[in-house]
Amino acid sequence: ALTSIALSFATNAAFADSSACDPGERVVKFSHVTGGTTHPKVVAANNFAARVNKEMNGKLCVEVFPNSTLFGDSKELEALLLGDVQLLAPSLSKFGSYTPKYGVFDLPFIFKNMDQAIRFTNSPQGKDLLYAMKDNVGFVGLGYWMSGMKYFSANKKLILPSDAKGLKFRVQTSDVAKAMIKAMGASPQAMAFSEVYGALQTGVVDGQENTWSNIYTKKFYEVQDSITQTDHQLLAYLFMTSQDFLDSLSPADRKQFLQIADEVTQEANQSVKAKEAENRANILKAGGKINTLTPEQRQIWVETMKPVWKKFQNDIGENLINAAANS
Ligand code: LMR
Repeated sequence: ALTSIALSFATNAAFADSSACDPGERVVKFSHVTGGTTHPKVVAANNFAARVNKEMNGKLCVEVFPNSTLFGDSKELEALLLGDVQLLAPSLSKFGSYTPKYGVFDLPFIFKNMDQAIRFTNSPQGKDLLYAMKDNVGFVGLGYWMSGMKYFSANKKLILPSDAKGLKFRVQTSDVAKAMIKAMGASPQAMAFSEVYGALQTGVVDGQENTWSNIYTKKFYEVQDSITQTDHQLLAYLFMTSQDFLDSLSPADRKQFLQIADEVTQEANQSVKAKEAENRANILKAGGKINTLTPEQRQIWVETMKPVWKKFQNDIGENLINAAANS
C-alpha cells in the first residue's frame, strides 16, 4: 500500500509540472530530489519539461518527479544505469563512485562565487568534464546547473570553525566534504537529502551545509539555531542523461533535445543568483537567523580548510584544480 501511495503522489506531482502525455509519445522520466516552487533546480527542470513537451509535442513527453518521489539520492544513478529514468540533475558531490574528477567542484573556497564557477564550466576543461563518465558507465552531462554557494548551519551559533568542534554534520556522499568536516574537528555523516530535516530535528546530526534555496525549501532553519554565511563551497548540478538514451533518438530529435537542454541551462544559470537572494530573504521572513562573518573571521575558515586540497590533488589532477582556481 505504501508503494502505491508513493507512486500516486509521484504521478500527481509529475502531472502538475508537465502536461499529461499523449498516446504515441515517448515518456522521458526526470527524477530529482529538491522541492518547493522557488528552488532553481525545480524551476529549471520544469522549464525543460515545458519546452520539450511543447516543441517536441507528439514525439517526447518529459515527466518531472521532484522531491525524491521517484528515486532518492541513493537510487537515482543506479536507476539511470538501468534505464528506469532518463534524466537527472544530482549535485556534483554525489559522483564519487563513478569519477574522482568532480571533487574539483567540492574543494573548499576554490570558487569565490558562482560567476567563477560558470566561467570554469564554460572553459574547455569544464566542458570535457561533462563526459568524464561516458566511457566507464555511459553517463553524459547535458549541462551544469548552478545552485548556489553553501553555508553551514548548526544547533548552535557558528562563528569560527572551532565552534563546530565535536559536532556531527550531515554531508553529501563526497570524500572531499568528509575531509573538510574533519578539518574543522567535527564528524561527517553522509546521508540522503530527503533524510536531512528529520536527522536535524531528532539530533542524529547537529548541523549541515547547503544553499539558501535548499535551507529555505526544506525548512532546515526551523530545526537549527542559525546559518552562518561562510560561502565555503559551491553546490552545482550535473543535468544528465545516458548515452543509451541519446543514441535511441533520431539525429534530428537528438539535435533539438540537446539544443533545448543548452538553452534551458543558460537561462537557469542567468537567474540562479536572483533565486538564491530571494530564498535568503524568505528564510529571514520565516524567522530563520543568519550570521555574517567579518573578513578576518572568514579567513580563519579558509585557512582551516585549505589543507584539504592537498589530499585530493592526485585524484583530481593538479591541472584541473589550477584551471578551476584561476577561472
Ligand atoms: C544535498 O544533498 O544537500 C543537495 O545535493 C540536494 C540538491 O539536490 O540540491
